[in-house]
Amino acid sequence: MRRRLLVSVLTALPALLAAQATHKFPPDSLENVDVIPRSTPVPQVIATMRTFAQSLGVRCTHCHVGEDGKPLTTYDFPSDDKTPKEIARQMMRMVAEVNRRLDTLPDRDPEGLQVTCLTCHRGYVRPVPLATLMTETASTSGLDSATRTYRALRTRYYGSDAFNFSERSLNDAALRLARDNHPAEAAGMLALNEEFFPSAASIASARGTIALLKGDTTAARAAFREALRRDPNDREAQGRLRDLGAQR
Ligand code: HEC
Ligand code: HEC
Repeated sequence: MRRRLLVSVLTALPALLAAQATHKFPPDSLENVDVIPRSTPVPQVIATMRTFAQSLGVRCTHCHVGEDGKPLTTYDFPSDDKTPKEIARQMMRMVAEVNRRLDTLPDRDPEGLQVTCLTCHRGYVRPVPLATLMTETASTSGLDSATRTYRALRTRYYGSDAFNFSERSLNDAALRLARDNHPAEAAGMLALNEEFFPSAASIASARGTIALLKGDTTAARAAFREALRRDPNDREAQGRLRDLGAQR
């Protein structure tokens, strides 16, 4: 019994040692760079890395082998074991190419805008509009999952540049879901939206538009009237009610 324990400790030893191997941080020189010129000063590379992490809203460990909360000397920065690191290299090449093209614009101001990781990512790893993300989540994983996702994103990213938490995003998601034949998910998105914007005319109008898609003019009329009760100047409700009146 004891012997077996000893054997297993001994066989685990190399792995243990590897896990605890430490590297100098910051390193003296760059080891495994394909995009960044090897002669770049290390502090400049690390500043770039911090910008990557901030622009994407991730930690170093998203791209590098290491454990959150552990000292950076325990990380293996040259390792290419994580796919996002390779994606990041492609992104760096893409950004350089985009900026080369921008520089060929006619009358380009030499101080003109440059594209950076932040231009698209805005602090989130997958640069996707909130309406698109909610439409995808609701249609593939269902209403409960989409609702949980929305609440979690809102808690974490409200007030950041990452997502638009105005009433518009869930209205758009609801309209797309209704068009894609997901009526329950569409209604659920509007109910969730109303929780945050209880008196938004646009939500009632979206409900009216969805009712029209189903051909339910009675429900549509009621919804557009509700929109006008919330905001007598709501253009969409005014227009739709006028059209509905005409075909009565
Ligand atoms: C979005 C992905 C990403 C994030 C996040 C990221 N890095 Fe990197 N890192 C890279 C890529 C890609 C390279 C290699 C660049 C190349 O090939 O030119 C690299 C290279 C490095 C290197 C040089 C390694 C070598 O080969 O010598 C260091 C050091 C480094 N990163 C530190 C950090 C630190 C510290 C953080 C967190 C603050 C961080 N990185 C966050 C993608 C990332
Ligand atoms: C033109 C817009 C754009 C710019 C600029 C951009 N990205 Fe991306 N990035 C994307 C898109 C779109 C995806 C999603 C690709 C996919 O899922 O197929 C993505 C995905 C990624 C991923 C993988 C996400 C994951 O889930 O791990 C990483 C890492 C990444 N980008 C890093 C960067 C870095 C670093 C920069 C700056 C050097 C950058 N990106 C600049 C559009 C952009």
